[in-house]
Formats: sequence, C-alpha cells, structure tokens
Amino acid sequence: MYRNTLAVLASAQLAAAGLYPNMTPDNHTCILTDPVLSCSEGAVPEKVDSCCVETFGGLVLQTQFWDTNTGLEAEGQLLPPYTWTIHGLWPDFCNGSYTQYCDLSRQYDPKPAPNTTTGKPDGTPVPPYTGPSIDQLFEPYGKMDLLAYMKKYWINQGAPNWELWAHEFSKHATCFSTFDKECYGPKANQHDDLFQFFETVIAYYKVLPTWGWLSAANIRPSNTTSYSLTDIQAALTHGYGAIPFLGCGGPKYNQTEAGKGSLDNGGTQLNEVWYYYHVYGSPQRNQGLRVPADIAGGSVSSCAKAPGAIWYYERAAGSETA
Ligand SMILES: *[C@@H]1O[C@H](CO)[C@@H](O)[C@H](O)[C@H]1NC(C)=O
Ligand SMILES: *[C@@H]1O[C@H](CO)[C@@H](O)[C@H](O)[C@H]1NC(C)=O
Ligand SMILES: *[C@@H]1O[C@H](CO)[C@@H](O)[C@H](O)[C@H]1NC(C)=O
Ligand SMILES: *[C@@H]1O[C@H](CO)[C@@H](O)[C@H](O)[C@H]1NC(C)=O
Ligand SMILES: *[C@@H]1O[C@H](CO)[C@@H](O)[C@H](O)[C@H]1NC(C)=O
Repeated sequence: MYRNTLAVLASAQLAAAGLYPNMTPDNHTCILTDPVLSCSEGAVPEKVDSCCVETFGGLVLQTQFWDTNTGLEAEGQLLPPYTWTIHGLWPDFCNGSYTQYCDLSRQYDPKPAPNTTTGKPDGTPVPPYTGPSIDQLFEPYGKMDLLAYMKKYWINQGAPNWELWAHEFSKHATCFSTFDKECYGPKANQHDDLFQFFETVIAYYKVLPTWGWLSAANIRPSNTTSYSLTDIQAALTHGYGAIPFLGCGGPKYNQTEAGKGSLDNGGTQLNEVWYYYHVYGSPQRNQGLRVPADIAGGSVSSCAKAPGAIWYYERAAGSETA
C-alpha cells in the first residue's frame, strides 16, 4: 500500500525533480572519473559529471546531537550510551549559504521546517508528507541491518525517529548533486538514493567519535561540573584535526545567575557539533578533507565563551539503552 502512495507522489511532482535541468538518466560511471575536490575550481557542472563530483553543496557537514532525553522513552526510543547521535549530512554551498527541499518529488517529511523552500511566505510551499512511516520501506529492499543501525544511533526528540530521517533526506539530501535521482542510472531501484544517503551519513558519523574525543580530555557528561568552551574546542580540534562548529541551547549565559551583568549571550547547554568537509568526488566515496567550520566565514560556536559557562549534561535516568 505504501508503495502506491509513494508512486503517486512521485509521478504527480516529477516536473519539480532535479537540481540541474536536462540531466540524463543514463548511467553515470563515476568509477571512470577523477574524484575532483568539491569547492575547487574544477568542481563545476560544466567541467565534471555532477553525479560523480559534488558541484552543488560542496561544503559537507556531518552533524551530531547531544540530547539528554528523547521524550518517547515510554515507546522504547532511547539514546545509545557513550556516544553522541546522528543529526545528518548537509550540503552547504562553498560560501556557507545553503538551500533546502530541492526536489519535492522526494518529499517524505511530515513536518516540513521551514514550510516553504526559502523559509519565506513567498517561497514554494513544501507540502507535508502524509504517507506511512518510511521505516516500512527498508524490509522490501533487504535493508534491515541499516534500519537496525539507524534505530540505535539516529535518534529523534519528541517524535518518532523515522520523521528525523525523512526530514534530513528531503530537506538536505535532495540538495546534493550526487544524490540526484538521475545519478542512479537506468537500473536503479526506487529508493537507492534514500538508502545510499542514509549509508553515507553513517559512514561519516562512524569515524567521528565526539564522545570519545571529549572523554580523552576528561570532558564527560556531568550535572555537577561545568566546562569552558575553549577546552571543548581544543579537545575536538585535536580529535578532528580542524575546528568544528559547536551549538549550545539552554538559557543564554547572561540570563543565568552566574552570568548576570555580562554581555556574553551564548548558550549554556552543549547540544550540537557540526564537522565540516570538502569531499573528493561524491560524498558517497567517503573521502573527505576535514576543514575548519569557519572556512567560509561565520562563527564556530553559538556557546557562551565565559570560563566554566557550559553544561554538558548527563542523560536523564531511563533515557539511555542499558
Ligand atoms: C552504461 O552506459 C554505457 C554507455 O552508454 C553502456 O554501454 C552500458 O551498458 C551501461 N551500463 C549499464 C549497467 O547500464
Ligand atoms: C553562495 O553560493 C551560491 C551558489 O553558488 C550562490 O547562489 C549564492 O548567491 C552565494 N551567496 C553569497 C552570499 O555569495
Ligand atoms: C507556513 O507556516 C506559517 C507559520 O505557521 C503559516 O502562517 C503559513 O501559512 C505556512 N505556509 C504554508 C505554505 O504552509
Ligand atoms: C546579554 O548580552 C547581549 C549581547 O551582548 C546584550 O545585548 C543583552 O543586553 C544582555 N542581556 C542582559 C540581560 O544582560
Ligand atoms: C542532568 O541534567 C539534565 C538537565 O537538567 C537533566 O535532564 C538530566 O535528567 C540530569 N541527569 C541526571 C542523571 O540527573
């Protein structure tokens, strides 16, 4: 039944598909092409096959969450111990700006955010997906091992995990040139792009042990000891080889008792990390060049800078798998 729903969705919106006009669905034999580095001079659709070299979103971010609960513990949605969890893999433009929901024929996100392609009222509306949960797609394609991994490490907060996966795919994967539907050739299965995206995200995530890098510097989740941004940055820069972006939520430092009167309005609860790459060829090849988070300008953190201002909280009791 779900296949019918998806087929209807796909055919109704075929016209909206694809990042580049007139791209052929012929097989794109990337094995025969050079893996040009994204964001380099040669990585443009005029010079290379955009299925084999990322020419659209060449600044690739592997993003991770530190959540202390899921909100769906009662349904068995728990966090894996001793590790951060997957957020996604994002295709920023080389200058640091980005697009989203680039192919509405592949819209599986039940809660599009933003709800137009530009985030503004005059952008193209992104219709909410109303079909069945996409975790049902895996079994017919023999992808139960992939599903098992995702259920363990790609965890949503406040909604079922599959909604996060669908959101990441439709909002971000559709804006890589290399995950374009046309890239999969004439013999593709219907969801090759979906599964290959999930597998690629995981391949990047697996070699980015945020928890371990922090732990090696004696920075571990604690509800009694707070940390300094510079120490967290040093630990992760040492592990990764380039500075990642750190995201903090919670109260702003100068809204807390400790930060009263200060001008430091950074967040005080560490909850995200974004690792930046340029990639050789397609991201699917999993050969990234690690680059600093400010390579295209911009800030490397939304966290408070005052010494000892950051909380890296322990997970709530009962929110982690045993
Ligand atoms: C790929 O394209 C080439 C050239 O058009 C063709 O000879 C070959 O049979 C195709 N391979 C597959 C697997 O479709
Ligand atoms: C960033 O790059 C994209 C893609 O090349 C381009 O469309 C956009 O205008 C650029 N933005 C800025 C602020 O230069
Ligand atoms: C998007 O969300 C805003 C704010 O909730 C709402 O006013 C607007 O009608 C929505 N637009 C679409 C296209 O759904
Ligand atoms: C917090 O810091 C911001 C930015 O420096 C400043 O604009 C704001 O007035 C401060 N707020 C308080 C409550 O001190
Ligand atoms: C640690 O603090 C966080 C944030 O207040 C809270 O959600 C969590 O339950 C606490 N964990 C433990 C084990 O007390």
